[in-house]
Amino acid sequence: MGAARYIWITDSLRPASEGVVPFLSAGMQYGFSVFEGIRCYSTDKGPAVFRMNEHVERLLDSAHIVGFRELPVTAEQVKAAINQTIAANEFSACYIRPMIYLDGAMSMTVEAGHPRFVVAVWEWKSFLGAEAKERGIRANIASFTRLHPNIMMTKAKVSGNYVSSILAKTESHRAGFDEAIMLGPDGYVAECTGENLFVARNKIVYTTPRAGILEGITRDSLITLARDLGYSVVEEPISRDQLYIADEVFVCGTAAEVVALREIDFRTIGDGKAGPVTRALQQEFDKLVSGRHARSAAWLAPVPALNAAAVRS
Ligand SMILES: Cc1ncc(COP(=O)(O)O)c(C=O)c1O
Repeated sequence: MGAARYIWITDSLRPASEGVVPFLSAGMQYGFSVFEGIRCYSTDKGPAVFRMNEHVERLLDSAHIVGFRELPVTAEQVKAAINQTIAANEFSACYIRPMIYLDGAMSMTVEAGHPRFVVAVWEWKSFLGAEAKERGIRANIASFTRLHPNIMMTKAKVSGNYVSSILAKTESHRAGFDEAIMLGPDGYVAECTGENLFVARNKIVYTTPRAGILEGITRDSLITLARDLGYSVVEEPISRDQLYIADEVFVCGTAAEVVALREIDFRTIGDGKAGPVTRALQQEFDKLVSGRHARSAAWLAPVPALNAAAVRS
């Protein structure tokens, strides 16, 4: 993981060492912060951010969902801050983590504190391991249920939601698996700890309905790519045993990209390796994010040069 030299705090770039939060803040104490995970890819035209508009919209939607009323930033300011942070750190490709956290507010209302805006970036090549894309990974069904939307809202990327993900993934790792699949309160598959899930069976691609999941931007991209390739994509509830008898199961997310599940609960899925649908989508996705796909121009935003006035030392 390549470390950054600069971090964006509120309205300017600062040395990365200043990227610390006060111990007494609701963001820190109660997980009351919303964030995004975005990737910047290296392309022939220089670094470019994948689906910047959608990620920034989701960040502001998350803030709206948890009840922030006045934010310190507009969508345009978030985009500019992201671009400047990438440019200042001179990364050709990186992971981007914008966050709005509640500062103060120990009295447990949003109004009692102040939303603070930060953007961190770092080089993060592989999330599920270098071999994951080639070989696929092993998963199990978590003993923890995914969040009920009326307990912790799943459309918002709220830091506190990820306690549930960490519980599930830690349990899976300790049991010898790579990732956890979480069932929703209805007993059907919801998503993984940081990825959405797809099934391919008899040349039809299925994915879970969006009501109980984080609506992944990679998920949306794969639905489009799969339809471009001529597959029917159906959003409908998926049961645990439908996973076992699928031809292919794959998961996707900004950090993980597109990864096959070759085994679930000690049962081999399909041929026990990434199948043809997964491979085709991995290839299309790679073309897309490296600027070599017909849709790249619409979904990749080149990073402009650094504005030196944004740097404060
Ligand atoms: C719980 C959860 N589901 C799904 C995803 C995939 O979303 P995206 O493709 O927008 O990264 C993520 C990652 O952000 C996540 O944390």
